[in-house]
Amino acid sequence: MGKGSRASVPPSSLKSATAASPLSSQHHTKFEEALSVKEPKEKLYWKGFSSSAKNRALFRTSYDDIMEEPPYFTLITTYISYIILSFFGHVRDFYGFRWNKKAFSHLMPSNGYAALTSDWDSFWTRNLKLRIEDCFSVPTSLVPGRTVNLLERYTNDYCRSFQYTGKLKEVVNLASYNYLGFAQSTGPCADAVEDVVRTHGLSSCGTRLDGGSMDLHAKTEELVAEFVGKEAGLLVSMGYATNSTTIASLTTKGSLIISDELNHNSLVFGARLSGAFIRVFKHNDPEDLESVLRDAISQGQPRTHRPWKNILVIVEGLYSMEGTLCKLPEIVELKRKYKFVLYVDEAHSIGAIGPRGRGVCDYFGVDPKEIDILMGTFTKSFGAAGGYICSSKAIIDHLRITNHSSVYAEAMSPVVLQQIYTSMWSIMGRDGTSAGQERLSRLAWNARYLGSNLRKQGFIIYGDRDSPVIPLLLFNPAKIPAFSRECRKRGLAVVVVGFPATSIVASRARFCVSASHTKEDLDFILRIVDEVGDLLNLKMSSRKALEMGMDS
Ligand SMILES: Cc1ncc(COP(=O)(O)O)c(C=O)c1O
Repeated sequence: MGKGSRASVPPSSLKSATAASPLSSQHHTKFEEALSVKEPKEKLYWKGFSSSAKNRALFRTSYDDIMEEPPYFTLITTYISYIILSFFGHVRDFYGFRWNKKAFSHLMPSNGYAALTSDWDSFWTRNLKLRIEDCFSVPTSLVPGRTVNLLERYTNDYCRSFQYTGKLKEVVNLASYNYLGFAQSTGPCADAVEDVVRTHGLSSCGTRLDGGSMDLHAKTEELVAEFVGKEAGLLVSMGYATNSTTIASLTTKGSLIISDELNHNSLVFGARLSGAFIRVFKHNDPEDLESVLRDAISQGQPRTHRPWKNILVIVEGLYSMEGTLCKLPEIVELKRKYKFVLYVDEAHSIGAIGPRGRGVCDYFGVDPKEIDILMGTFTKSFGAAGGYICSSKAIIDHLRITNHSSVYAEAMSPVVLQQIYTSMWSIMGRDGTSAGQERLSRLAWNARYLGSNLRKQGFIIYGDRDSPVIPLLLFNPAKIPAFSRECRKRGLAVVVVGFPATSIVASRARFCVSASHTKEDLDFILRIVDEVGDLLNLKMSSRKALEMGMDS
């Protein structure tokens, strides 16, 4: 395919995935030789990739995640780019505040009212994000499956506003969380959801405490608790709120929360709401966690030095920006030693990781009983919405009456409950088919196939080899929109992220692989990214030779 040419989306479905189609002859990767596990063939999925220990190879490699540093030249030019951006931003603000008052009125005091949005965040939003707004919040239509339909739009005023052409553009989808491919408008889940609308309607019209608890809630909570291996579960209609309201119910003034520095905003927000004292440890670093624990326990509460009322350590199963899997076995060791309460957010790992799709405990072979609180969401792997908290019955009973989402927010909708129930039922193999296990095998293989080949192409890829979230580092801020636009032009939807969502030098594209992607899709993606990578000079990894199995 020539540079800049448009590619048509490969047609396929989950069922039509084949092992036979080779990579394009222009793109020689040694992946096929290097990977010991062959692509799962549909009929063999169930036999070949069951959850027995001998078949764990597909689901778990022995690789440790590596955060590779970019070359110094890239680092220096990235910092210089931000300095230039910041300089021009200040110049624009200087002139705007004086001579373009209408456009800047919301940033200035007027009529005795103070400006609401004139802080540092606003400076960055206006001068970086808004100028490349076409790369964010791209409107879509229809099901976000292996492909997604983008609403075509254009701007005549540097992304201040957009006009729609009324056309849809179908592109291969690496932008949606749809790990197991359950985002579908047909199939058993869609059928069951359609049926439940006829019996239960769309809403339970109440909070869980006040008339909003249906039979479906109880049934689904039971299934979710069984799935993750805990005694009881509580469902919340929003994943974000699951964290932000639960943490406050588990801690109080005099409690200590120790949080991974890269924890999701919902965890940070929940911790702040709780009023507990918060300390942070280095990302996924059990040694640093231990030193924070030792220091905090020996010193006790600030000023009084009284012992902490309780200590809650919060980590994620799979970090969605880094693709790193939490070092659960080491953290559980620390828990045994220091007796803290362990809270694991499995938003991205539940359904997506482990031979039975049951998250990081399943992946590492850790007994879920070792974890006090298992949290997860249904948005990523189940094609649904909302979140869960699973724990002992005593803790869940406490949360039912203290968690603000249970007491004050609407209960989960019956249609969402049914989607969760049917998809989980399928993953557990209770529908009498191997369809759920096929999805798990397909996802595990796809994640490794795409990640390994991108590494071999020379990109800097963060995270663990088994992660279905694959962050490809862009570094330079100018490459954020360039990468997004060039990929979209060629028929590929990706998510790009920059400062302040990442550190200043670590802008990235984040690929979310799905079980619904076929090998043709992945080869198509590799071709596009390879081409765009050459165009934008993104192949900076010094590990390429190593990845190819050669001496560096
Ligand atoms: C780690 C983590 N926790 C919680 C959430 C919130 O989940 P939801 O998007 O379902 O509200 C997210 C969202 O991406 C997440 O990444």
